[in-house]
Amino acid sequence: MAQVQSGILPEHCRFGIFIEAKVGEDLEQIRTGCKTFVNTLTELQQKFPDAALGAVISFGSNLWKTLSDGRGASELKPFTPLGNGLAPATQRDILIHILSQRHDVNFTLVQAALKAFGKAITVEEETHGFRWTEERDLSGFIDGTENPAGEARPGVGIIPEGEDAGGSYVMVQRYVHNLDVWNDMPVKAQENAMGRTKVDNEELPSDKRQPTSHLGRVDLKEDGKGLKIIRQSLPYGTASGEHGLFFIAYCAHLHNIEQQLLSMFGERDGKTDQLLRFSKPVTGSYFFAPSLDKLLSL
Ligand code: HEM
Ligand code: MG
Repeated sequence: MAQVQSGILPEHCRFGIFIEAKVGEDLEQIRTGCKTFVNTLTELQQKFPDAALGAVISFGSNLWKTLSDGRGASELKPFTPLGNGLAPATQRDILIHILSQRHDVNFTLVQAALKAFGKAITVEEETHGFRWTEERDLSGFIDGTENPAGEARPGVGIIPEGEDAGGSYVMVQRYVHNLDVWNDMPVKAQENAMGRTKVDNEELPSDKRQPTSHLGRVDLKEDGKGLKIIRQSLPYGTASGEHGLFFIAYCAHLHNIEQQLLSMFGERDGKTDQLLRFSKPVTGSYFFAPSLDKLLSL
């Protein structure tokens, strides 16, 4: 199979950097920038093996169409607003996702990325994520429990064959939490909103789980099969200022991610996700991450 970009499958990274940018006319610099970026990534992986550095470059649908001469990524489309403005669309052209065990190494790579792409990109969002204690979201709930693990990951996250083999669809939304509102809610109400218990992270039994709980919204089945995705989200922000979850998901089918979104934002049955009581997305984009081979031959 074509080689997969190195930031999609790793588990339990401790730090991440997310850059979302617009791309101008200079596509040649995007093409050479991708190659330079991958070279630096490889050098840093060799120099700091303990960092377990990984990264992914992915593209929005307009840029992808141009770069690929209209081939591949047939599910890719621009993100559109959902739920009457509850979820805004801020579709960008390029996403650079860096993750590892070390923020210092991530930072070195992101500096190299900015140099490699130069004036060909205009950065609109740069978010530095960190793993919080016990892999909890800032809401205090453990995030990632039902993420596919180990050998189950490629089957969920990576397109297995054809033109797009080794590639993956990506969705990002930066969520801003209002922790004052959240922490004023009794723990029981928080648990009902999430669909799991807080301290010991147990799934609420299905007869006790509210359909508007987060799990009630996103734990979906189609033809008896779970709609799985790979989440690489991380908490971000400052304690005194803006903070929340940088949500990012990879999947072999954009469809799976989209169905979960439609369900959270009331576009399937009119019901919205209770986590929107304390957190709101302020960005939203879809991207396609080609295989490493494809990225280097654009
Ligand atoms: C599960 C938090 C947004 C998809 C969970 C869990 C938590 C959580 C605490 C339970 C533990 C786990 O299995 O990971 C959040 C927060 C969000 C957010 C704080 C934003 C503020 C989203 C979005 C999607 C999503 C936007 C998809 C579009 C999922 C899925 C699961 C999950 C698929 C696993 C469901 C299962 O199979 O049990 N999330 N989430 N989440 N979340 Fe989210
Ligand atoms: Mg489940």
